[in-house]
Order: sequence, then C-alpha cells, then structure tokens
Amino acid sequence: MDKNTSIHGMWSSRLMFILAATGSAVGLGNIWRFPYMTSDNGGGAFVLVYLGCIFFVGLPILVAEILIGRHGRVSPINTFRKLTRESGASRHWVAIGWIGIVAGILILSFYSVVAGWTLHYGWLYLKQLFGGAPITDPGATFQGLLASPVELTFWHAMFMLLTVAVVALGVEKGLERAVRFLMPSLFVLLLVLVGYGFTTGRMADAAAFLFRPDWSAIDGNVFLRAMGQAFFTLSLGMCTMMTYGAYLPREGVSIPRAGLAIALTDTSVALLAGLAIFPVVLSFGIDPAGGGPGLIFTSLPLAFEAMPFGILYGLLFFVLLAVAAWTSSISLLEPATAFLVERFGIANRKRAALGIAGLSWLLGLLSVLSLNLWSGVRILDRDIMTFIEFIANDLMLPLGGLLIALFAGWALNSTILREQLSDMPPALFTTWRWLLRVVAPALVLIVLVRAVL
Ligand code: TRP
Repeated sequence: MDKNTSIHGMWSSRLMFILAATGSAVGLGNIWRFPYMTSDNGGGAFVLVYLGCIFFVGLPILVAEILIGRHGRVSPINTFRKLTRESGASRHWVAIGWIGIVAGILILSFYSVVAGWTLHYGWLYLKQLFGGAPITDPGATFQGLLASPVELTFWHAMFMLLTVAVVALGVEKGLERAVRFLMPSLFVLLLVLVGYGFTTGRMADAAAFLFRPDWSAIDGNVFLRAMGQAFFTLSLGMCTMMTYGAYLPREGVSIPRAGLAIALTDTSVALLAGLAIFPVVLSFGIDPAGGGPGLIFTSLPLAFEAMPFGILYGLLFFVLLAVAAWTSSISLLEPATAFLVERFGIANRKRAALGIAGLSWLLGLLSVLSLNLWSGVRILDRDIMTFIEFIANDLMLPLGGLLIALFAGWALNSTILREQLSDMPPALFTTWRWLLRVVAPALVLIVLVRAVL
C-alpha cells in the first residue's frame, strides 16, 4: 500500500482534518462536563490546574498522537505493530492500542447516554415551540428523565444509531457538513448565552468563580480530575487523534500548528461554556459548587424560560450540543472499527461499526440503570456510571497518554519525528521532545500514583 494513503480513506483537505479533529475534541466534554467538573472541584483552582494540564501535558501528547498516526497510516493496534518493528522497539507497546479500544468502548457507553439527555431536551423544546408545557422546575424535569429507564434507553439508542450511521459510511461523508456549519453555530450560540450572562448582572461573580483560584482547594483529587478532564476534552489517550492522523495527507499540514489550533479552540469553547452557565447559576440563586452532572440541564432551562426567544434558543442549544456530541462519538467508535476493518476486510465496515457500537450500547444500559433502578449499587463509593467514567477518563486516558508520550519520546526512531515535524523550529522541537520525554510522563505518573495510593 502507498505510504501516503490509508485504506480507510483520507481527509479531503487540510481544513477537513482540522474540522474533524476539532469536532472530536469539542463535545459534551466542553459544555456538559467542564462546567460541572469546575463546579464540583473548587472553581478557579480546578480551572487553573486544567489549563496547565492542557498545555504542558495534553498539547505535546496531541502532537505525538497525530504524528504517530500519520506515519503509521493504519488503526492504532496495527500502527504500533508497524512502528515497533521499524524502530526495533518492544512489541509490548502494542498494548497502548488495546487500552485505547477498551477505553473507547467504555467512554462511548456513557457518552451516548448523556448525549441522549441532550436529544431529549431538544425534543422538549421542540414540543414547547408547538405549545408544549414549559420547563418551570428544571430540577424536577431532569430528575424525571433520570427516573425513566425507558426514556433514557430510547434516546441512548437513537444517539448510538446516529453514530453508527456516520462511521459505517466512512468518516469523510456526512461529517463535513456537520462540522463546517453546525459547530460554528454552536459557538455563536454560546456567545449569545454569554451575552445573556452579562444581562444577569452576575458575570463578574461568575468570572471570579471560574478564574480566581482558591489555593486551598487544590489537592491530589483536583489534580486527578483536572488531568482526566484535559485528556477527555482533547480526545487524548485512546488513540482517537492517532486514528484521525492516519487519514491526514502528508503535504501541506503542520502537525504542531494543527495541534495548537485544536487545543485553543477546545479550550475557548470550554471557557465560554463556563461563562455562559455560571452567571445563570448564580443569578437564579443556585449554589455554584457541587452542581454535579445535571448542572447544565438544571440551570440553562431557567435562562431559556426567562430570555426573549428563549424556547428557540433552548431548542437550538440542545440540538447543536447533540451535534457536537455526535462529531465526538464518531471519533470514539472509529479506532476500533478501523481495526476490525483491517482484520476482516473493507467490505465489513458496516458490520464492524455496528458490532462495536452494539457492545457499547449494551454497556451503556449499565449507566442507564445506575441512574434509577440500580442507583443504590456502589463500586468504590461511586454509582456504576460514575465508576465507569472514573476508570475510563481519569485512569485509562492518562495511562494511555503516558505510554504514548514515552513511546514517542523514547522508543520511536527520531528520524520519523523529524520527518513528521519538519516545519518545527529546532528549539521548539527540543522543548516538545523533553515535555514528552520527561515533563508530561512525570506529571501524569505523580497524579496517577497519588490517586491509586
Ligand atoms: N473530546 C470529546 C468531548 O470533549 C469526547 C471524546 C471524543 C473523547 N473522542 C474521544 C474523549 C477520545 C476521550 C478520547 O466531548
């Protein structure tokens, strides 16, 4: 096979790669998870540690993932097989690919459940547009949804079907429109909500909550959650970006620049989401701390009921959020699908996607039930959904990222690095390499060891 193409197809342009990778990064992680993680973990202290993790750990690893993918040109497991052979490194590195596949299936399982919540809310606002009942008590509406396994399962299934449909067709088709028009619309809508935040008169307090760190709030746990969130929001640590890198044309694309653009866009969306949500939280007298996973669902509807055209904005918001989640869930499914396709042949892409998604959907039922019938079940002090999220996001992703950093930093032949990063100024290249060899692995290791002990 030609070293410059992949059997899974290629992005039609450089822009397409940036859009797809940004579409993967920007999702529920930014708009659903970032605000409530900030709320639960001490506000500004969490945000500060999170930003540090993004730029000193996440960005170097993001660059490493893309370059490994672009050199390997196949799914993660086969990429590690090929690269370890080429560099004369241990075959054990292939385990990174397996960790990635397992993490992807686990993450997709609850990701689809939460994306299902946003579909349900889109539906609620659509009904309201045609005279349905307003959401007067968002807390009760949210609890009502969580209490219904049938409704949760239905929307979880809908979302999973949407995800399979795109992956089965191959990543290029269908994705382009979603990322090109709908993602910018979401961005604009967030700006509108930030604008609304100013009218509440609580923007200054919201900004203080987000950006004024309370140093005493920083402990090992905050570090762990912030590190996990940084990996999750950048789609790192499970070879997603590696897989997208495998479909990236050789010419005309600077990996460091692309990485920086992705990280900056992703971070701005998260911060904007924070600035949109916390003024509403504060102005309606909700405690900004300890909001939990329901935060956006219990706070934003208050604003939508109060603001002009709020119902329309509510509809747009939840639909666009579902689209953002969609362009992310695709990237959770693609690495495992690509692996099966390489194993069983290109004709089997549909079956491969359906098989993995089916498995993830079944696992997702555990999350669904943990919200109601099985809410009493506790594993390590967490309900099942929170436990799966913890294992996948806070442990597996940083571990995967740590190994990717060590692989790219120490095991990979340096001519490959230089070839892939030919446009990087030497000083920057050296800095990047030491971040990858020492700084990022050390930080991740400290955080993981403290978490486990
Ligand atoms: N980054 C996405 C979000 O913020 C979720 C996601 C997509 C992801 N692909 C991933 C997370 C791979 C971890 C690994 O919503």
